[in-house]
Amino acid sequence: MVARGDAERPAPTTIAPVPAALRVAHGVSALTIIAIFLALHISNHLMFLAGPTTYDAVMKVFRHVYRANALQPALVALLFFQITTGIHFVWRYTRAPSDRFQTFQIASGVYLAIFVLGHMNSVFVFARTYLGIDTGWGFATGAPAGLVQDAWNIRLVPHYALGVFFALSHIAAGARVVLLNNGVRKLIADRVMISGALVAALVAAMIILGMCGLRVQFV
Ligand code: HEM
Repeated sequence: MVARGDAERPAPTTIAPVPAALRVAHGVSALTIIAIFLALHISNHLMFLAGPTTYDAVMKVFRHVYRANALQPALVALLFFQITTGIHFVWRYTRAPSDRFQTFQIASGVYLAIFVLGHMNSVFVFARTYLGIDTGWGFATGAPAGLVQDAWNIRLVPHYALGVFFALSHIAAGARVVLLNNGVRKLIADRVMISGALVAALVAAMIILGMCGLRVQFV
């Protein structure tokens, strides 16, 4: 696509605005996903640092929420809604130049759309339906070989690290836009997003180190 682009023709500086209702719906849907699933899922993954027994015990408790008959189909529907509306935004916004913050928001959204689709395929279709296995600690960490010492499993290290980093920093990018639309000064809104991205990097690093074998113990 880049090679076929016409470098002589400048990109339009104005584009048809994305309907405000759709942007609000994307945000409300994101908040619902965080409330019924993502906050639990990320906290669960921080338990990699505590080892398999704690990780699986916490997961079993959290499953009562996101695997509940009423919530699981709603969660999947919301994720598909998030992906389709997100791709629509990307389609619109990439027609015009964007600043660094918006470019980050667009690029992280594109990664997430691909990540979430691939991840749901591996959890729902490959593991649960095709292999018929439980998607607990062993599935996540590529047991018994582990993530690092297996030539195929190691692909999951950047895949998961970036998944967590972009999920959390994309939320921070969305918060920045909400703040700007509510009259908060740009400097403050930018700092909120940068701080959010730093926290996202820290959380992603802790999770991936836990997945790769780091254990934290209180004695
Ligand atoms: C370190 C990163 C991640 C790892 C290791 C991981 C691993 C897993 C595992 C093991 C499950 C099965 C859970 C269960 O059986 O109860 C699961 C489910 C799922 N994950 Fe992740 N995940 C990661 C990040 C993410 C992120 C960032 C998202 C979304 C943005 C996500 C979305 C989902 C969804 C939608 C499901 C299906 C939930 C359900 O059973 O209803 N995951 N993941």
